[in-house]
Amino acid sequence: MVRRIMVLKTRMIKIQDHSELSWKIREAADSIRNKGLVAFPTETVYGLGANALDPDAVKKIFEAKKRPFNDPLIVHVSSMEMARKIVKKISSKAKKLMESFWPGPLTLVLERSSLIPDIVTSGLDTVAIRMPSNDVALSLIESANVPVAAPSANLFGKPSPTRAEHVFNDLDGVVDFIIDDGPTQIGVESTILDVTREDIVLLRPGGTVKEKIEKIIGPITIHPAVNRKKIEGKVLSPGMMDKHYSPDARLILVIGDDDNKKRKKILELVEHYKMAGNKVAVLLRSEGFNQRSLPQVVKYLDIGINAASIARDLFYKLRLLDQQGVEVIIAGSIIEDGLGFAIMNRLIRAADQIIKV
Ligand code: TXA
Ligand code: MG
Repeated sequence: MVRRIMVLKTRMIKIQDHSELSWKIREAADSIRNKGLVAFPTETVYGLGANALDPDAVKKIFEAKKRPFNDPLIVHVSSMEMARKIVKKISSKAKKLMESFWPGPLTLVLERSSLIPDIVTSGLDTVAIRMPSNDVALSLIESANVPVAAPSANLFGKPSPTRAEHVFNDLDGVVDFIIDDGPTQIGVESTILDVTREDIVLLRPGGTVKEKIEKIIGPITIHPAVNRKKIEGKVLSPGMMDKHYSPDARLILVIGDDDNKKRKKILELVEHYKMAGNKVAVLLRSEGFNQRSLPQVVKYLDIGINAASIARDLFYKLRLLDQQGVEVIIAGSIIEDGLGFAIMNRLIRAADQIIKV
């Protein structure tokens, strides 16, 4: 258990009817203007917001999350005017992307203007910006009338929060407000593109799929650090790169194209960990498993039949398995096209061990 000093009384705001939005979020918007921290919904995951123009307010984000200061934040805007003020220039490709995908799950890295303090970008000359596609987020930013710096509203390293209760579990007592708008629609974070040069580079796969981006601006480059854990061999030891999105349970990812081989490997692992006395769960719909085909004490979590529903439930299910005291989670790979690219990226980064069959 993480111990923390509770200094704040966190207030919950439940949005039931979007027509009452403007008055319901007023106090939260005031709080943002007055150096407060507000967790709010976006279409991807919940964000932990503060005034991006105020270094003291932004510092609190890092402290609340226990996030290292060398990991820069995404700045959320509610209008193009707001975006224009915090960057030096917007290239024609960047403009095309904004027109095609904003508001939506696409973050663009651009050269920052002097309005953005160093702490937001960890000293980089660039700033990551996005316009979220969520009424609550947009009204909050508009009403605060400042750009809002916001990472995902989880403790550093944990699965991102896709429901207000996830935020509450991680950050009660350290944030001023949590705005509850129910489960998020997409479930994985935004796609991040570096658009500072002619060659557009994908830094993180996410809610806006690569195929759609390439339809608008042509081929893009995938940064070599994306999914780098996978490349190095058959069984990779933990600690080779920073773990992220991780449940408390040990996560083992079995990857390969042959479903029969994957099924065999997963069953072998289930038997092994069961014999060792662990509480085991199998995650994902892959390899044609169902609860009946697996040994009694093993939990099988079906997380949907298409990439969109897998993405929506992934972090929720990882947190659920932790709550249920599962010690070992075994997941099979899915095909890496469309949203599958983002899903596999999160699983690879969350994994303690990756086994290729
Ligand atoms: O969907 C999302 O993007 C969510 C919601 C809340 O908007 N936010 C989110 O933020 O996922 P976070 O902090 O968990 O991830 C932001 C990532 C960082 O890990 C960082 O590497 C990258 O964005 N980033 C931020 N500024 C950058 C910059 N100037 N250059 C390159 N990468 C940057
Ligand atoms: Mg995050």
